[in-house]
Amino acid sequence: MTQDELKQAVAQAAAAYVAEYAPVGSVIGVGTGSTANFFIDALASLKDRFRGAVASSEATRKRLAGHGIAVLDLNDVEHIPVYVDGADEIDDGLNMIKGGGGALTREKIVAAVAATFVCIADASKQVALLGKFPLPVEVIPMARAQVARELAKLGGQPVLRDGFVSDNGNLILDVHGLTIGDPKSLEAQINQIVGVVTNGLFARRPADVLLLGAADGVRRIG
Ligand code: 5RP
Repeated sequence: MTQDELKQAVAQAAAAYVAEYAPVGSVIGVGTGSTANFFIDALASLKDRFRGAVASSEATRKRLAGHGIAVLDLNDVEHIPVYVDGADEIDDGLNMIKGGGGALTREKIVAAVAATFVCIADASKQVALLGKFPLPVEVIPMARAQVARELAKLGGQPVLRDGFVSDNGNLILDVHGLTIGDPKSLEAQINQIVGVVTNGLFARRPADVLLLGAADGVRRIG
């Protein structure tokens, strides 16, 4: 199976999960990226069962709207039973690195509201230790250089994502070479740096369920 076929398989499994566990009339949280795009396509056939969706990015908002799925402002939504999103890396504790698509801040906000975070990933995303994938950090533009110096003190090599501006008008530093032995602590430590909006470690709010796609099928963990 190709990587896209694996992504499609986990997206279908996530749609089945949503159909089973999200109450009729509820609002679904939707992530960003190529795996999430397959999920949006699969969700379209269920759209009459739900009130609508909250999008974690402008790209996701457009794709949902293109399928005729109502997109709601998070401020108008109190309860999201299920949030479905991809990941760049995921470990055995279901801690993740996210933000390869640059949508980490909105993804973290929607995930914080959701009762259940379902991560959809092909097997290449599963790792024993997080950190081979450079950690995205969203920064306020005027703080870019100062935040980069602070990240270097933590042992990382920050690289400005070329020509990229987030949906929030900010920049992304991709931090290479970090040793992430304790993802929860590092997530908090980086978020304490003045000028950081948030970082792509999802350890304080990890996934609850992982739908992992491999050649022999989709495995549910959690
Ligand atoms: C976007 C993300 C994505 O979930 C992550 O980058 C995985 O993307 P893909 O499904 O395209 O591999 O965090 O900010």
